[in-house]
Amino acid sequence: MKLLRSLVLLLCITMLSPLRADEGMWIPALLGVLNEAEMQSMGLKLTAEDIYSVNQSSLKDAIVKFGGGCTGEVISNRGLLLTNHHCGYGRIQSHSSVENDYLTDGFWAMSQAEELPNPGLSVTFIVRIEDVTKEMFDGIDENTSQEDREAMLSEHSEAIVNRITEGTHYEAEVMPFYYGNEYYVIVTEIFKDVRLVGAPPSAVGKFGADTDNWVWPRHTGDFSLFRIYSGPDGKPAEYSEENIPLKPRHSFPVSLKGVNAGDFTMVYGFPARTNEYLTSHGVELIQNVEDPIGIDMRQDILDIMEKEMGSSDKVRIQYASKQAGVANAWKKWLGRVRGLERDDAIAKKQAEEQEFLKRIAAKEEWQEAYGGLLNEFEGLYAEIRPLTYGMRYFSEAGYATEAFRFANRLGRSLKAYGDGSDEEAATAAIEDMRKASVGHFKNYHAPLDQQVMATLMQSYAEAEEVPAQYRPRALAAHVAESHAGDYNAWAADVFSRSALTDPERFETMLADFSPEKLAGDPIYSLMGEMISLYFAVQPEYGRVNSEIQDRYRIYMKALREVYSDKTFYPDANFTLRVTYGKVEGMQPNDGIVYKHYTTLDGVIAKYVPGDREFDLPQKLIDLNESRDYGQYAQDGELRVCFIASNHTSGGNSGSPVINGDGHLIGLNFDRNWEGTMSDVNYDVNQCRNISVDVRYVLFIIDKYANAGYLIDEMELIK
Ligand code: ARG
Ligand code: GLU
Repeated sequence: MKLLRSLVLLLCITMLSPLRADEGMWIPALLGVLNEAEMQSMGLKLTAEDIYSVNQSSLKDAIVKFGGGCTGEVISNRGLLLTNHHCGYGRIQSHSSVENDYLTDGFWAMSQAEELPNPGLSVTFIVRIEDVTKEMFDGIDENTSQEDREAMLSEHSEAIVNRITEGTHYEAEVMPFYYGNEYYVIVTEIFKDVRLVGAPPSAVGKFGADTDNWVWPRHTGDFSLFRIYSGPDGKPAEYSEENIPLKPRHSFPVSLKGVNAGDFTMVYGFPARTNEYLTSHGVELIQNVEDPIGIDMRQDILDIMEKEMGSSDKVRIQYASKQAGVANAWKKWLGRVRGLERDDAIAKKQAEEQEFLKRIAAKEEWQEAYGGLLNEFEGLYAEIRPLTYGMRYFSEAGYATEAFRFANRLGRSLKAYGDGSDEEAATAAIEDMRKASVGHFKNYHAPLDQQVMATLMQSYAEAEEVPAQYRPRALAAHVAESHAGDYNAWAADVFSRSALTDPERFETMLADFSPEKLAGDPIYSLMGEMISLYFAVQPEYGRVNSEIQDRYRIYMKALREVYSDKTFYPDANFTLRVTYGKVEGMQPNDGIVYKHYTTLDGVIAKYVPGDREFDLPQKLIDLNESRDYGQYAQDGELRVCFIASNHTSGGNSGSPVINGDGHLIGLNFDRNWEGTMSDVNYDVNQCRNISVDVRYVLFIIDKYANAGYLIDEMELIK
């Protein structure tokens, strides 16, 4: 049976050589060569030059990296910017208070004067993307040692960046693609005055919250609006009242024409990280080691959070954003493990590897260069496995306790404090600690953090798969001795004594500060043990990992040589990419069909009055009752979300979903549960991206918020 399945798989792979169009995250600068013809055959009416150009304005000029991890797009010639509600969430929260609870009630600036500045938030435009592979490899060949290689690469990269940015206000970064087989320099322009314009209430923008997260069918209006400002000269500038709305080189016209099954779509944004070319060993490690550890540890944290948040409104609000972050990755990993198992991804990879071996055997030169690669992977992955246990436990358990993170932050100030003999530096360092403490204690509930520490440190200390030298053994011995092995009692004791878990004790410590006091704090010294664990495992892990990465460089080169009829796309690396496919439903399971869109009626059907996740504002219910959809309806319905076969990843949140005419039809914000495996195993039968229909966005702005002046700014295509 197993054999038969492998045979069938092998057969599929051999037949399926050219990728199905939907898979791939393409470099915008290469569309003309690699994708234009296919995109046009699927319904694109633009040219590659319309999508990306260095000489004239193109779609890329309306797209930004938003803050640290999302995408946004410009939708008016006055710098109006659209992104997800969950991307603006932290900013919306930071402007919120009990009196002005914008998270709950939403926020709408009714004029430019009412827009809210966001210190620290920036948006990044791409000026151009240039192939610099030749220059990077100057003087490097296969005989160059890895050490020399790395040194020369970083020298070349610095020279390129200097040459490009000199005399400009641009920034530049050289990035490896195809595991370092190619290099591109990304030239950027960064705007730093970005103001909040509008956000729907969470009951719309986060409707369905964690229950619906990563799931289709979906009914979330996951959007928020910002505005980019420039200095009076049109160039980037820090916030100032003098600043003016950005005059962008391009802004997206917004389509009201409708979204239909089979329509061409593309998503243009900043996917962060994919690993599509892992060997079977790499997939196995994710499926059986990395994700399961993350899932287990976070399950514990979420249980603790649920209990504490459920018993107090204050804690519920304090931990809203933190809980969302913990839950989001937890649920993605759950879906990914399930998807990989069900898709038999490891076997699929093994079959591909057999095929690869067969092909290279046909050519002596290949056999010589690549014949040993897969065995090397096997050896290296066996070596990294225990180290991965160590790293993963460290990163999940070590970062989970908020007081540890605070301790780590204080470590930096302590360094600046020195021995205290420089009085000015010492005073500044204490002030810095005080400032850090404000952030730490603002949304802090010590009883919750205490349970997290107790539970996760116990798991970490007792995890038998982690080699003993990478486990917190000193801690375990201490808990055994002082508290008969009871981690809860130990944590209670530590938390009652530490200054890092209570603002008053912290202030008392600062008032009469000495480095010894901080160093002697029970949490601070525990952090010391954590850091030494990190330095025990990380260098080893890093060494093996860099060997693995170097093998992938060769493997990638080999794949491209051996399958020269196939076009390979580079893994996502947080650079600008285009992915395309079409609007389409799917069949997740025998007997189940996913339609390609959802409606406002469906939102109302999920309504649970007073519920944390499924409550709704009365006004939305009324609007639906009166069928007051204005120009935003299609066939008498108001569509809310749709799915399409675009290959997206984390970081694509907020990306524009664009039709064949280059007009905006939606806003990407998620993937379906079955398809969360797509970062390592894209399967067009199981993977869809989820978008808000742009007409739902307009409907909320216009009919719900009465902010029609914003609609007037946009160019609507009817
Ligand atoms: N799953 C989406 C993403 O990865 C949305 C996350 C925000 N929503 C949430 N309930 N946490 O970003
Ligand atoms: N929600 C994700 C993000 O914030 C995008 C969806 C995905 O991972 O596909 O980037």
